[in-house]
Amino acid sequence: MIRLGVNIDHVATLRQARMTYEPDPVTAAGLADLGGADIITIHLREDRRHIQDRDLDLMRKIVFTKLNLEMSTSQEIIDIALKSKPEQVTFVPEKRQEITTEGGLSVTTQKRLLIDVIKRFKDNGIHVSLFIDPDKDQIIASSEVGAQSVELHTGNYANARGDKQCTEKLEELKEGVKIAQSSGLRVNAGHGLTYKNTGPIVEHLDVEELHIGHSIVSRAIFVGFKRAVREMKELIHNHYLIRKTSKHVEV
Ligand code: PXP
Repeated sequence: MIRLGVNIDHVATLRQARMTYEPDPVTAAGLADLGGADIITIHLREDRRHIQDRDLDLMRKIVFTKLNLEMSTSQEIIDIALKSKPEQVTFVPEKRQEITTEGGLSVTTQKRLLIDVIKRFKDNGIHVSLFIDPDKDQIIASSEVGAQSVELHTGNYANARGDKQCTEKLEELKEGVKIAQSSGLRVNAGHGLTYKNTGPIVEHLDVEELHIGHSIVSRAIFVGFKRAVREMKELIHNHYLIRKTSKHVEV
């Protein structure tokens, strides 16, 4: 089965809009757990625009499935992450002005830095994933710097319009999965995935984890957090069954 990582940054974004105490992303983590989330994902940004240090501390204590910390390679965040010891870290690029993570990490241009940083995390028993575009050079470089997993950026697929473009972007991701697996990497995917566009990803991509945030949190406003997570779990499960019984998908 494909595991579901629920990104709860958006709950913290709502809280920070008023600089108050509600809604608490820690409560969201508990409800996501009840809804069947396999992983809780948070991004402790350098500018602390949503998740706060206190959230990470509490999450570390209450998440018993798996905590995936998205982070930049800034020294301050590295120190915090090594102290907190989440089960997994995912390195992402971070720009202050962006609305959300815009593109994948450039691994090819910072190999030396990543080799050192990744080693420190692996030496501390923390699984390391890199969020990258489905680009051959970036995938191969990810394996060369010692990452154990890559999370392939599904943003271009999510933004594609029309069947032709969607199929093209899906093909790029499929090719990316193949290259990553043959380079010895485990493969995850995420960004921009919704209740409408996740089905084909599950049916066509042999990935281990899907990381989904905005769409789940948006639905949660209307149906509740636990139900929103459960509905995404069911959707993934149903499409996984289609994949398993379909002839044309190679798994
Ligand atoms: N994966 C990564 C690396 C991300 O940065 C984000 C956004 O925080 C997500 C997945 C989830 O994206 P979305 O909120 O669009 O589902």
